[in-house]
Amino acid sequence: MPTHSIAAIPADGIGTEVIAATIEVLRALEQRFDDLNFEVTDFDWGSDYYKRNGVMMPEDGLATLKPFDAILFGAVGAPDVPDHVTLWGLRLTICQGFDQYANVRPTRVLPGIQSPLRNCKPGDLEWVIVRENSEGEYSGIGGRCHSGHPEEVGTEVSVFTRTGVERIMRYAFKMAQSRPRKLLTVVTKSNAQKHGMVMWDEIAAEVAGEFPDVTWDKMLVDAMTVRMTLDPQSLDTIVATNLHADVLSDLAGALAGSLGVAPTANIDPEKRYPSMFEPIHGSAFDITGKGIANPVASFWSASQMLNHLGEVEASELLMEAIEQATGSGHLTPDVGGNSMTADVTQAVISAILESESNNVRVGT
Ligand code: IPM
Ligand code: MG
Repeated sequence: MPTHSIAAIPADGIGTEVIAATIEVLRALEQRFDDLNFEVTDFDWGSDYYKRNGVMMPEDGLATLKPFDAILFGAVGAPDVPDHVTLWGLRLTICQGFDQYANVRPTRVLPGIQSPLRNCKPGDLEWVIVRENSEGEYSGIGGRCHSGHPEEVGTEVSVFTRTGVERIMRYAFKMAQSRPRKLLTVVTKSNAQKHGMVMWDEIAAEVAGEFPDVTWDKMLVDAMTVRMTLDPQSLDTIVATNLHADVLSDLAGALAGSLGVAPTANIDPEKRYPSMFEPIHGSAFDITGKGIANPVASFWSASQMLNHLGEVEASELLMEAIEQATGSGHLTPDVGGNSMTADVTQAVISAILESESNNVRVGT
């Protein structure tokens, strides 16, 4: 089995804490599986780098990342640098530069974690949100004029291309098809937005024809928030535009107990470029340095990374170890416990290493 080369970009705030914890967990997996190896290269890009150099990453940053098998990303955002600078300077440049058009956000209530929804039993909320990640409301098209005058104008243009919508729709249908319930909900706002969103609906119906075994339905995004809250069991795989899925995935994270457990994979399904894995939570400067950041989102993202790299057993074992840790009460304050990042990390590592004795060795 070849060594997997990983570019680690912890970046800002708690990003550095959760990525350090994740690398410890990857090292434990290396110990657990003889032929699993990671070569991790650390990049100090981010807001501090920006303050020193005036850019979030070097001009040839994408070329530097291109040969890696995957990118493990922490978080961007600093109190003293405008958010659009930090975001467009690093994370969005990577997502769009590497055409990571499928953003995959699984949500589930983990053992030991309480959903804020009354009566939400294990299994009631098990979703994957597939977010279009290359265009739409995040296309970066727009401008400002009459700056500083009362008639100042700002435009932010959403771009939906047939190629872009078809490929994410196909990805989402495939994802739904691979899951036991084979159920997909397509989210738009085609009542009010009568161009791009109506095209989404039309393309959904076309692509659905290729997947006769997948049951699908449509929701308007506003009504979708109600359904997610009041009828979580009725959903499984969800596909939505860049912005709609951004909003829905925060709601999903909150309904699953905390954004601190919500993972993301920014995938280039064609594997022309490295894909990027990151927790959904941001840099969280209010808790930075306190040692209480929840590392679970980042661990879960690493599990998605392992799966993408073809290390399916390691990916599944990591997920089981996470569930064992949360289930046995190793919970940071955001999920109602008083464990530190290091305690949760240690619990996950112990679960990984202990699995050796009661399991046949896999991964040969
Ligand atoms: C997310 C985040 C980002 C996004 C922000 C930080 C730009 O909210 O990953 O969901 O909107 O894509
Ligand atoms: Mg978001």
